[in-house]
Amino acid sequence: MATANNPRKILITSALPYANGSIHLGHLVEYIQTDIWVRFQKMQGHTVHYVCADDTHGTPIMLRAEKEGITPEALIANVHKEHAADFAEFLVQFDNYYSTNAPENKELSQGIYKKLKAAGKIATKTIEQFYDPVKNMFLPDRFIKGECPKCHAKDQYGDSCEVCGATYNPTELVNAYSAVSGAAPVRKETEHYFFKLSECEQFLKDWTRSGTLQGEAANKMGEWFENGLNDWDISRDAPYFGFEIPDAPGKYFYVWLDAPIGYMASFKNLCDKTGAGDLGLGVSENTLNFDEYWQVQGNEGKNPETELYHFIGKDILYFHALFWPATLEFSGHRKPTQIFAHGFLTVNGEKMSKSRGTFITARSYLDHIKNPEYLRYYYAAKLNSTMEDIDLNLEDFVARVNSDLVGKYINIASRTAGFINKRFDGKLNPTTNNSVVAEIKAAVQLLADSYAGREYGKALREIMRLADLANGFVAEKAPWVMAKQAGQDAVLQQVCSDALEMFRLLTLYLKPVLPKLAAEIEQFLNIEPLTWAAVDASLSAQHSINAYEHLITRVDAKQIEAMTEANKENLQATPAPQPHSEQRHAVHQQNEANLDTADAEYISIDDFTKVDLRIAKIVNAEHVEGAEKLLKLTLDIGEEQSRQVFAGIKSAYDPATLVGRLTVMVANLAPRKMKFGMSEGMVLAASDERGGPFILSPDTGAQLGMRVK
Ligand code: 2FM
Ligand code: ZN
Repeated sequence: MATANNPRKILITSALPYANGSIHLGHLVEYIQTDIWVRFQKMQGHTVHYVCADDTHGTPIMLRAEKEGITPEALIANVHKEHAADFAEFLVQFDNYYSTNAPENKELSQGIYKKLKAAGKIATKTIEQFYDPVKNMFLPDRFIKGECPKCHAKDQYGDSCEVCGATYNPTELVNAYSAVSGAAPVRKETEHYFFKLSECEQFLKDWTRSGTLQGEAANKMGEWFENGLNDWDISRDAPYFGFEIPDAPGKYFYVWLDAPIGYMASFKNLCDKTGAGDLGLGVSENTLNFDEYWQVQGNEGKNPETELYHFIGKDILYFHALFWPATLEFSGHRKPTQIFAHGFLTVNGEKMSKSRGTFITARSYLDHIKNPEYLRYYYAAKLNSTMEDIDLNLEDFVARVNSDLVGKYINIASRTAGFINKRFDGKLNPTTNNSVVAEIKAAVQLLADSYAGREYGKALREIMRLADLANGFVAEKAPWVMAKQAGQDAVLQQVCSDALEMFRLLTLYLKPVLPKLAAEIEQFLNIEPLTWAAVDASLSAQHSINAYEHLITRVDAKQIEAMTEANKENLQATPAPQPHSEQRHAVHQQNEANLDTADAEYISIDDFTKVDLRIAKIVNAEHVEGAEKLLKLTLDIGEEQSRQVFAGIKSAYDPATLVGRLTVMVANLAPRKMKFGMSEGMVLAASDERGGPFILSPDTGAQLGMRVK
């Protein structure tokens, strides 16, 4: 049992975000949920470490880097910076934010693999997979598309149909094509490495039923056990961005093998950094010991000294509740103490949507709403310990932040601090028997239990109930009335001092959720950083506070509107007015600069020749997930690399009918980073009120790459 002198040693992780996209509000549910728990445990005085990293390996990252014309290392370095900045601004305070593409992770992954092999848990099997003969690579399921074998919907992914919901093997797709090159994939045999999960069933049944999972998650596991566990394919063939498997040239660990090991690697890196801080003065008590957290230390394969918790989304439960504990168990490591899965985020009751502007990045939120603690508060108010989805209702967000934070909580200080500052030179004189203060203090255990049990909504409801009591006290005493009456000074000082003591306690309770605001309030109250133990202390008589400055502003519905507007995909290409009422419609996922030539009816031939128009062959065309008007085209203009262009022609074309056609593209338009990826040109199409868009076709005989002039 941990005591004040013998704190618990807790290692906490959040899932590692992929290094090929921005952090969005959906991601933030988990990081905010975890960060609140971490801060709460730290406030309890425990030794807590919170580590995370970017999940950097796999085919999508390799291909995206190739598209951007940079190395995967350069891509992941850029994304790492962006992610780290987003997290820091949302006050998600990792003790280490690392990368899975790191030497520690390579060594740990290869070491774990060797142990699994020595334990007889690795097998090889020759399997048949789709192979892109143009790109010379095996294709992951999501890079194979084709017709659903059940309902024959076109352009479905290799594993499941978005139209009828069927799941299948990519080999069952009708008219399959590679989403990378557009070529028809061929089947090819290859040897893969498997982790024999089927042999781990008894261990996993025992582990998942030993209180490590939430009830709903344990039930889900039950279903999976009923269906029987398949061996897990842990290898991928070159070309692949990842770690090579020892003694297996050209074979790489599948990204999901080394991703959770990234938790260990990030912690290892932290341990090494902590050790380095020691400057050779010997092993300090604070030096972190990797083995203490990851090696089995006790009997029965348990590690009683340290605790390990993973916060994850419910979609990756399979990886964390089956593959991960089995990997740890059979490589001689300790298993997680508990896995905490949360639900998905919906916005205004629906899946986040780019067309509705509710697919909001962390950066866009910061640009428009500014204050990250509003979102932390709102999410906390909605979070509980289950895997239920949580809804960000934007109207409710405005109302709740304004009423709870500004109207209830901050109001306590803003109505009382001024009197202390102006009339009593900042000096307090609280009573010792205020019943509201006593009631606020009495809630401490309920609140600690709620935070510890991840029932943040329950905690905040209680805190707001207490804030109502505090406001009731202030309203009843009406210091603004006393201030105008003679002979009331002593009572005025007491009332305001008591109110500020209530405010101090509420700040302590809210600190895991609102750490920045709490720090500002600690400064204003002129007190040490609040820990949970500070509940037992009080603001004493003669304690001086600092000047009260405005702590928080109301959020305005207009900010929300501006944010959703800014995130709405503007897919409506603007017709470009041309002289002689002729319409030439440049199709691009973002409206290009309007080619309005009202000021200059004519352009010179030099102006025209600046535009590099080329005959392009459409080698692939596909729908873009979440885009209402766009198709993603892969265009060949005879260069080494094909071009990717997003065109607003979805309303007029079935992508399958475009593949193989010749058209005309602007080849020297500066590449632009768009929401869906890079756009490397523009296809031309005609349209007006009579119809369209109609893309152009050259006359018979034109060849791809020819210049149009
Ligand atoms: O689902 C995801 O976003 C993964 N990148 C999570 C990995 S978590 C851990 F296992 F690394
Ligand atoms: Zn289907």
